Amino acid sequence: MSDHQMTQTTPKDFLAATLGGLIAPGLTIFMIVMLFLGIQKNMGQPDPTPVADKVVRERIQSFGQSLAVDPNVPKVELSGEQIYNEICSGCHASGALGSPKFKEKADWGKRNAQGYEVLLSHALKGFNKMPARGGDPDLSDLEVARGIVYMTNAAGANFEPVLKKEVEPSAADLARGKTVYAENCAYCHDTGVTGAQKLTDAKAWMPLLKEGKDYLYNAAINGSFGGPAKGGNLKLSDADTKLAVDYMVAQAKSAIPAAAKAPAKAASTK
Ligand code: HEC
Ligand code: HEC
Repeated sequence: MSDHQMTQTTPKDFLAATLGGLIAPGLTIFMIVMLFLGIQKNMGQPDPTPVADKVVRERIQSFGQSLAVDPNVPKVELSGEQIYNEICSGCHASGALGSPKFKEKADWGKRNAQGYEVLLSHALKGFNKMPARGGDPDLSDLEVARGIVYMTNAAGANFEPVLKKEVEPSAADLARGKTVYAENCAYCHDTGVTGAQKLTDAKAWMPLLKEGKDYLYNAAINGSFGGPAKGGNLKLSDADTKLAVDYMVAQAKSAIPAAAKAPAKAASTK
């Protein structure tokens, strides 16, 4: 009797076996469903573009305003003290990374003796462990200068936050530059083909203008990321290439105040 019972499949055994057999495929299906749900969840994430757009707008705003001479555009440049508190103090308050410490005359004496121009150049371009612009690429040249003067004067110097003025090209230079540009550069820079910065694209030119003319001259003469040396015309003289750059910079600069006005207005209504 007992033998017989052991081999007989009861409905309970049958149910247990069936359910047991279902666990493996069931788990697989469950995991696939979860995977899909996960993918869908990611797809539902908010589009990051508005954030990027906002960042770009903020950059345009501070830089455009620092360049714009339009008196209607409110100045939002920070003072030396603000710059120091917000950025430079991160290292210079404590002397981190071997930086000269705030108000420590012994730390600053020799550095101040190098003169303001050298300090400015080091702070703008970076110097050993000192990051360019204190690590904040959004700072304008003038803001960096103010930060330096705030620190150096607190340690005995007597500097003024002035920027070396770039020599403005004459009308004749610009006219010559325009011709060179039309013959050698317009092909790409009028249209923006192959990623060349369009002359009227303020957003593309603002970071470039910040690099300064020497950088742009060098990029135009020797080529830069996809930009051919001398626009591909190696017979072009360095001088003419520079004049073309002067013309491009003048055009780009005149496109910037217009681009800066929109966000500036928004800020003034706050
Ligand atoms: C991440 C740390 C750090 C931050 C932030 C920082 N600095 Fe520096 N800074 C340094 C270090 C390190 C040195 C010393 C570099 C050396 O002499 O090798 C230095 C040196 C300097 C010097 C002297 C350069 C020279 O020629 O001797 C100046 C000027 C300066 N910093 C300005 C600034 C200004 C202005 C800011 C803020 C906008 C700033 N730093 C923010 C780390 C920093
Ligand atoms: C065949 C197309 C082409 C021609 C022609 C051309 N460029 Fe460019 N240019 C480019 C591209 C592409 C870039 C790089 C855009 C980038 O940085 O991503 C560039 C960048 C530049 C830059 C910015 C440098 C930088 O770091 O991006 C300058 C300045 C410049 N060109 C000047 C000139 C001048 C001056 C001429 C005429 C003498 C000229 N270009 C002709 C395609 C061209």
